[in-house]
Amino acid sequence: MIVCLAANPSVDRLFEVERLVKGDIHRPSGFVQVAGGKGLNVARAARSLGADVCAVALLRGHTGRWLQESLAAEGVDGEFVWTHGESRSSLSVADRETAGLTEFYEHGAVAPDSAWVELTHAAATRWQRDGWLTISGSLPRGAPDEGYRDLIEEARRGGVRVALDSEGERLRLALTAEPDIVKVNVAEAGELLGVPTARRDDSLAAASKIRDMAGGEGHAGIVTRGAEGVMLAAPDGTLYEGVLYVRGRYPVGSGDAFLAGLITALERGSDWEDALRVALGAGAANAELAGAARIDPSDAAALARQADVHLL
Ligand SMILES: Nc1ncnc2c1ncn2[C@@H]1O[C@H](COP(=O)(O)OP(=O)(O)OP(=O)(O)O)[C@@H](O)[C@H]1O
Ligand SMILES: [Mg+2]
Repeated sequence: MIVCLAANPSVDRLFEVERLVKGDIHRPSGFVQVAGGKGLNVARAARSLGADVCAVALLRGHTGRWLQESLAAEGVDGEFVWTHGESRSSLSVADRETAGLTEFYEHGAVAPDSAWVELTHAAATRWQRDGWLTISGSLPRGAPDEGYRDLIEEARRGGVRVALDSEGERLRLALTAEPDIVKVNVAEAGELLGVPTARRDDSLAAASKIRDMAGGEGHAGIVTRGAEGVMLAAPDGTLYEGVLYVRGRYPVGSGDAFLAGLITALERGSDWEDALRVALGAGAANAELAGAARIDPSDAAALARQADVHLL
């Protein structure tokens, strides 16, 4: 069982326009809406890949009920904590002419102290010894910065394996609780380490450093590099690079699909090399379809077979 924590879920809307012009009225040629925020993306992608998942989410109001219904329609099991107000929404606008993406992320309302405590309890009712907990994205405003750190400590005490994808201060604090896997992108790695991380060798060094910060031996550090692929410092210290020579048009949520693929494969007992292939396939399949973390499993499997994963 993979429990996917979604502390700050959102309704994610994608508009496609021919050309985005500041100040103009646009008539989108395409529109997709999904239950998003990184945690729900991971849950949806892992479910598409056939994993047994449970989304643990903080929901609010009518928007929250829409999130609940769309997860149910996608076959994602859920454990929900309800609080006041409305769940937030996010808007991405894809410009066909430039292939550029303009994004708007609502912060969401402040959550009461009790909401974070209840959410932690909800996760603990569903996670399983030797199963996985994924923690992705931001905390709701009002939740303590140490929230992820404390949750990881509790999960690991219960024998639950933890994969973390976050950024900023909550990431820095959460690393001290020694999550099993830390996955960040190059920008997040750069912010964490305060050094350049975009070049290939810098990304590799960053993956190793992040593995050290997460506890070293037995822990994995991963830096994803968009369409350029990924660097992995595996639990035994082996270093891998993974690349897939395809570039899809819809990369929003590729990091979440990547994590979903990785954990789905590891949960099934795959070794790291194979898990990395599945993850690359899922990340690339996500970029083929509009809407975050919507993936076609057969497309993901075909792409995974094309992945080039090698030791460094
Ligand atoms: N345009 C793309 N085409 C194909 N594969 C991609 C593309 N962008 C990303 N990927 C794959 O997905 C993985 C994760 O992507 P990326 O580094 O962009 O994550 P991210 O920034 O965390 O994404 P997000 O936070 O939007 O989910 C990459 O390592 C790569 O394998
Ligand atoms: Mg990401």
